[in-house]
Amino acid sequence: MDSRLRGNDVLMKFIIQNLKQKSTADAMVLVYFAKQKSASIPLWSALRAADKKQVEKVFRAKEFSGKEGEVKVLWRLSRGKIFLVGLGEKDKWNLRRLRLMARKITSVAKSEKVGSVYMAFEQLLISKIEIIKLAQTLSENAVMADYNFTYYKQNQDEEVGGIKNFILLIDVKHKVEVTAGVKVGQVIGEATNQARDLGNISGGEMTPTLLAQKAVEVGKAAGVKVEILDKKKITKLKMGAILGVANGSAEEPKFIIMEYYGADKKQAPYVFVGKGVTFDTGGLNLKPDKSMLDMHMDMLGGAAVISALSAIAKLKLPVNVIGLIPSVENMPGSAGYRPGDVLKSLSGKTIEVLNTDAEGRVILADALTYAENYKPKLIIDVATLTGACMVALGARASGLFTPDKNLQTKLESVGENSGDYVWPLPMWEEYEDEVKGTFGDVQNVGKSGGYGGAISGAMFLYQFAKKYPWAHLDIAGPMKTIEGEHLSKGASGLGVRFLVELVR
Ligand code: BES
Ligand code: ZN
Ligand code: ZN
Repeated sequence: MDSRLRGNDVLMKFIIQNLKQKSTADAMVLVYFAKQKSASIPLWSALRAADKKQVEKVFRAKEFSGKEGEVKVLWRLSRGKIFLVGLGEKDKWNLRRLRLMARKITSVAKSEKVGSVYMAFEQLLISKIEIIKLAQTLSENAVMADYNFTYYKQNQDEEVGGIKNFILLIDVKHKVEVTAGVKVGQVIGEATNQARDLGNISGGEMTPTLLAQKAVEVGKAAGVKVEILDKKKITKLKMGAILGVANGSAEEPKFIIMEYYGADKKQAPYVFVGKGVTFDTGGLNLKPDKSMLDMHMDMLGGAAVISALSAIAKLKLPVNVIGLIPSVENMPGSAGYRPGDVLKSLSGKTIEVLNTDAEGRVILADALTYAENYKPKLIIDVATLTGACMVALGARASGLFTPDKNLQTKLESVGENSGDYVWPLPMWEEYEDEVKGTFGDVQNVGKSGGYGGAISGAMFLYQFAKKYPWAHLDIAGPMKTIEGEHLSKGASGLGVRFLVELVR
């Protein structure tokens, strides 16, 4: 990984200490549920009398009352600062709120230029959530909030900031679980940041060739086998759909294959397929100005697959996982595909191109067919596929599509448990008419004038995924972070947590 990128280095260190041990850190984090008394927390006895007075004064003046998301920063009279952090009503405390709290503490530490914090982990315990899961969620989200994309800044050190040491004060009897959970969270958080790095690099730099090179580097660091198919091999294999899209660009397509065998090789693998469009101009159906601006992130499905495999290998999970990333640049070059062209896909099915901007599903068609070679237990594709999904669900959830009801229910809980939230949309057979072609076997856009576009996109993919259990995640909505998530601007790395949680 480029030394300028965060890559695989774990920058934030978690230190686990006995609650009774005296801690020196730049900030003491005191967390309160709503209406909790100021003196009722475990760290109260660690405060000097004068600091206790300060905190009590803030409570009395109602400047802080433990409301969810509330933060008040005080100077300690001796040294460093105190963060008062509100957790909200105790009976509403859950993983969703914990994620936001961990990020908020980290982002406040960043803006307050505090390099180390300590807090009493025990306070976050409630019977509903396992200790190991709490620890994982806390570290994962702190690491995610610590991330900044400084690749293009001249003075990187000035820009970074962030927490170096996150000290968790625990009851010794929880040490094993907390240590294990923190470790898992760090690996997944760093992998998510790595996917964000790949997505944040500009389109001019992040070509299919560079994405493939990054996959090789990431694979090497994590112990994952990586093979790159170049244009010659893609042509030889007859992946006509990928070639059709790639032809409009001077950049050659790549087909990235990552293989991780953590179990007996005979065991059927999971296959993850990620859309790797390194820049999406729309092709001849050129996108209007504002719509094109973020299209260097159109490879984030691919980045999620690359980084998920890296995390899965680092965690040595006892499963087999294959990652497939078809990567192209969608440009309106003179050799590019045209509206009306009919492409012959790897499956043998022909694809009638009605709109060159619906390119993601076209390249995924060949990758979904290729996935059949592995006789997979399950295929999941992750793609920034449609603006329509963003219209339907906004930026807080990915669209979840699968014809299998049981799988749908399982994947909904994977979303909830991982923090990469998903929401189902219908896959009724009636929708299949949308993508039946006139001159080709299938057409790449629906027939309802853009309405239900996310479903037509999914239905198109389904035509190439009928042989094995399959689900599709449309991550166009949450591809970027939004206000209130307490994450730095740019790519969200969505999908990494989901895929890792799925196989765990
Ligand atoms: N990459 C886009 C989808 C997208 C839009 C991702 C906004 C992230 C943010 C995709 O290739 C695309 O252009 N889809 C078209 C499909 C249409 C032509 C049927 C769309 O959504 O408009
Ligand atoms: Zn497009
Ligand atoms: Zn696209």
